[in-house]
Amino acid sequence: MTELHLWLRHETRTTERRTPVVPSDARRLVEQGVRLTVEESPQRILPTDEYEAVGCRVADAGSWVSAPSDAVIVGLKELPDQPGELRHRHIYFGHAYKGQPGAAELLNRFVTGGGALLDLEYLADEQGRRLAAFGYWAGYLGAALAVLQHRGRLATPLLPTTKDALEAELRSPGTRMSALVIGAMGRSGRGARVALDEAGVDPTCWDLAETRNLDRPALLAHELLVNTVLTTRPVPPFLTDQDVDTPGRRLRTLSDVTVDVGSPMNLLPVYDTATTWDDPVRRLRNEPPLDLIAIDNLPSLLPREASADFSAALMPQLLDFEVGGPWGRCLERFDEACRELGLVKGESGSSGSQGGVDA
Ligand SMILES: NC(=O)c1ccc[n+]([C@@H]2O[C@H](COP(=O)([O-])OP(=O)(O)OC[C@H]3O[C@@H](n4cnc5c(N)ncnc54)[C@H](O)[C@@H]3O)[C@@H](O)[C@H]2O)c1
Repeated sequence: MTELHLWLRHETRTTERRTPVVPSDARRLVEQGVRLTVEESPQRILPTDEYEAVGCRVADAGSWVSAPSDAVIVGLKELPDQPGELRHRHIYFGHAYKGQPGAAELLNRFVTGGGALLDLEYLADEQGRRLAAFGYWAGYLGAALAVLQHRGRLATPLLPTTKDALEAELRSPGTRMSALVIGAMGRSGRGARVALDEAGVDPTCWDLAETRNLDRPALLAHELLVNTVLTTRPVPPFLTDQDVDTPGRRLRTLSDVTVDVGSPMNLLPVYDTATTWDDPVRRLRNEPPLDLIAIDNLPSLLPREASADFSAALMPQLLDFEVGGPWGRCLERFDEACRELGLVKGESGSSGSQGGVDA
């Protein structure tokens, strides 16, 4: 078996402090014979020396572009625009299989360079269950920010923090409220329930069974709603403009962790743009007030905790990289997406030609 060479890259996005591999897991990978190169990265929540101390080789930020061809580049979010041709296998969230803007251009960069995208969103077991995800912390933060906003205690702009600091905020005495979590049985829903529990709020929990015949008056009777649903098929929306304008609505704070704006799966079509760390809350209605929080990079606000959990889930998959079925399925998904877009691989540029993944 050839030695696996993983290359942990610096993240291009300046607010991205998370990492998919933390030093304690880097140690385990190195102990198991994986060669791990770690790029310098000023914003990464964990210092580069901690990786060096456990046996990783350190390289300059962005130097993956000249890494050996057999290195597998590991990251989280978008790649820089250059180089135009991508010759490595890249593990990260590519956001390129649902017709997103720039998706075809990105996939074409892989095809022309002979590389491949092993998209973390599609790293799943045989039943399709995701193997590494940030959902728990997304839900935790979505609910935590909603509680603080509802209590008039949300400090803006939002900045990365720690679980201890956020927990202290949540635990400090505040108004009581009725809350509803939809998608409560999922990863994100579980995180939302934990945050609400820390804030002394005992939420109503709905999942698939409870929304089959949606009780809109019951939904609107809660002061706070956290939506953590992941649906793969269009279903009737949970809230419409008409609902929001219903007289007697008690709903005051809406936290949409799902943030599916613009998608046919959008279950909360009462807004059309996500909110941001600088302006996390948008007032949708004045009388009575209805505030929206819809931030699409929530786990980055708790970079240390989110990184540790994600890394722990990813580690066994990385250790199994050569033989693991999930990576083979990721590669098949990449090939399928390229075929759908009519992108044709060159004879020497097949993503499978580099070996290593059991496709
Ligand atoms: N905002 C962010 O920063 C951020 C970060 C990570 C994930 N997310 C999003 O959070 C959402 C949830 O992710 P997850 O990992 O928790 O998914 P998950 O699959 O673990 O959970 C989704 C839950 O939704 C439930 N569900 C599906 N359809 C439903 C319906 N019609 N009515 C009620 N419940 C329904 C499922 O049964 C499941 O319990 C996803 O949309 C994901 O993209 C957002």
